[in-house]
Amino acid sequence: MNKLVAELQHQLRERQVRQLVVIADATVSALYPHYWDELSQEFPTIFMEVPAGDASKSLMQAERLWQQLLAARCDRDVFILNFGGGMVCDLGGFVAATYKRGVRFANCPTTLLAMIDAAVGGKNGINVQHVKNCVGTFCQPEFELPCDLSFLHTLPEKELLSGFGELMKYAIIGSPALFCELEALERLTPGHIQPEWVDECISVKHEIVKRDPYDLLERHVLNSGHTYGHAIESLFAEEGRPVAHGEAVALGLLYESRLMAQIGQCAQADASRVERMVRRLYHVPAFTEDEVLRLVDFMQQDKKNRDGHVHFVQMRGVGDVSPDCRVALDLCAKVIR
Ligand SMILES: NC(=O)c1ccc[n+]([C@@H]2O[C@H](COP(=O)([O-])OP(=O)(O)OC[C@H]3O[C@@H](n4cnc5c(N)ncnc54)[C@H](O)[C@@H]3O)[C@@H](O)[C@H]2O)c1
Repeated sequence: MNKLVAELQHQLRERQVRQLVVIADATVSALYPHYWDELSQEFPTIFMEVPAGDASKSLMQAERLWQQLLAARCDRDVFILNFGGGMVCDLGGFVAATYKRGVRFANCPTTLLAMIDAAVGGKNGINVQHVKNCVGTFCQPEFELPCDLSFLHTLPEKELLSGFGELMKYAIIGSPALFCELEALERLTPGHIQPEWVDECISVKHEIVKRDPYDLLERHVLNSGHTYGHAIESLFAEEGRPVAHGEAVALGLLYESRLMAQIGQCAQADASRVERMVRRLYHVPAFTEDEVLRLVDFMQQDKKNRDGHVHFVQMRGVGDVSPDCRVALDLCAKVIR
């Protein structure tokens, strides 16, 4: 029995859980059909499956899960385990937070992004039409499980790079020492991801969430790289060549650090360190003038932005950020050019 399963067994015993529901997406359940075999000998377990992909973060899938919970006669004592990437953690967390006004749950993350970000912090939710995370709750899992990094060995390269974008973000917002370690990385394979890096990201997130659990201000620093990142995601989606979220965030970190250097908030040396790290691992596209204008247009559509300005996380240097910094639109375009 590995460390993760042993810890879950201990936690479920402590809570005298009698009914366990494991929610997974189809890819993860096909890859790991026997992961819970030992545990389910002790705890009667029902497996529920949703299609893989962010489209499953929907009211339709949430309702299907509520119906399956009802059909299985799950009462408020049921324990839900979300087994998968950020999509399953968000959907399963939302279903758990709302079924019979809330039942206990925990996350077992299987992507790098979920290990360091989505499985931690108590936010969950579903998308409505094209609006991401439009409906959801703040609801903490009962406990956090140790991460099993062996899951990363089956992860497609693009998903590993996506998670790494968020990992860089955590280093930039809260861990200069981690950033130095990442700078030594020449290429990225699952074997390169160190358990201490994952732990460090989780502790940076815990610290921020503790100070601002309901995302009123300080937690906004978790959006580093996301202002450009969301615009890049939207542009590429519109062009029919979608880019993974964390990869867009990595590019966003590059442009945001350039921008902060441009307005004199961040030392050029720190911005250059970010740029070098992003370029070493990611393809940085050359945007046409038309694309630059569309990117700026996407940034302007963000509801936080008014009066020809865009709101960013302020980066003063690696490990030194604060929530809010307004920048004029023309400068936002200039740093992409
Ligand atoms: N709640 C939060 O705080 C928070 C934070 C960040 C992101 N998110 C959400 O997380 C989601 C993105 O998470 P994600 O990147 O993990 O995406 P995901 O859950 O869709 O997983 C990406 C792909 O990897 C597959 N997969 C998962 N684990 C695997 C494994 N071990 N081996 C092979 N394939 C595997 C999945 O089936 C899927 O196809 C988004 O919906 C985002 O909004 C939430």
